[in-house]
Amino acid sequence: APQELRYDGQTVVVTGAGGGLGREYAVFYGSRGANVVVNDLGGSFKGEGKNSKAADAVVDEIRAAGGKAVANYDSVENGDAIIKTAIDTFGRIDVLINNAGILRDVSFKNMKQSDWDLIYRVHVYGAYKCARAAWPYFRKQKYGRLISTASAAGLFGSFGQTNYSAAKLALVGFTETLAKEGFKYNILCNVIAPIAASRMTETVMPPDVLENLRPAWVVPLVAVLTHKSCTETGAIFEAGGGHIAKLRWERAKGALLKTDESLTPLAIAAKWKDVTNYKECEHPEGPANAMELLEAAAQLPPSPASGELDFKGKVVLV
Ligand code: NAI
Repeated sequence: APQELRYDGQTVVVTGAGGGLGREYAVFYGSRGANVVVNDLGGSFKGEGKNSKAADAVVDEIRAAGGKAVANYDSVENGDAIIKTAIDTFGRIDVLINNAGILRDVSFKNMKQSDWDLIYRVHVYGAYKCARAAWPYFRKQKYGRLISTASAAGLFGSFGQTNYSAAKLALVGFTETLAKEGFKYNILCNVIAPIAASRMTETVMPPDVLENLRPAWVVPLVAVLTHKSCTETGAIFEAGGGHIAKLRWERAKGALLKTDESLTPLAIAAKWKDVTNYKECEHPEGPANAMELLEAAAQLPPSPASGELDFKGKVVLV
């Protein structure tokens, strides 16, 4: 028989697993030997109300297929309670999928404070609380796999989603730092930007497009990233509609100017071509080497007193 990735004896917590992507993850892990904590608050996609039915249905589905699962109905804002369910029921936690999410789309002009706050609380504070509660177990057992869920909206911006975009990109920074702190404990942390048909996207995409964006097609990437054989950490992956790709930062060639009074706005403007030159780019794993650059900058001659403005004209919307 062909080999398949398995998670026997491991406990996987999936937040927001009552529907959409979370449900697919939970059912998958349940079918591959894992103990699954199916967390879902069971509210609307805007974050209103709650209901135990969503999580219960997925637990029933996993059990009916012969898997092991338990429901938890807490909001991710109470991450401790969710992780406690894993420990109380299965005695351990190995994998945490921060997946729960809501939308409060509205133009920035019309956004209410509550729209901003609720998005932050579910996506950022919720992911933090769950990870915070799982972390001591990960460290103690020297093993952990953490996935958080970003979005193209956070990576590239998206009209009407300032709250959501800010929260989603926060999870990238969160993940990159946790990857560094977790590395020596074999805790691997990655972030995904999925695209999938769900109640979240069904109103913004046409049916024929949605048909080709099954949540099930995001699952295999998450399976790879959370398997014990994985070595990726601190990375961003896009996944959806059969397309899977790693994403990274790109640094333009950049300008280096003498660090004295000649470093003026006009001196920078005159070097704009270098500042924005992606043709001679690098793909940094960290910030530019400040000490090295500082020394090099000190050696340079002063910039011309009156640089010419060289913006090459245009403001572009990307
Ligand atoms: P969904 O609405 O089907 O699933 C989200 C689940 O999270 C729901 O079952 C909901 O009840 C649950 N949930 C919401 N607030 C919760 C809370 N406070 N505590 C516990 N559970 C809560 O949406 P979908 O599409 O499956 O989204 C999953 C994740 O993927 C979200 O984080 C979303 O922002 C992200 N995402 C989805 C994209 C897509 O194309 N579907 C695109 C980019 C990101």
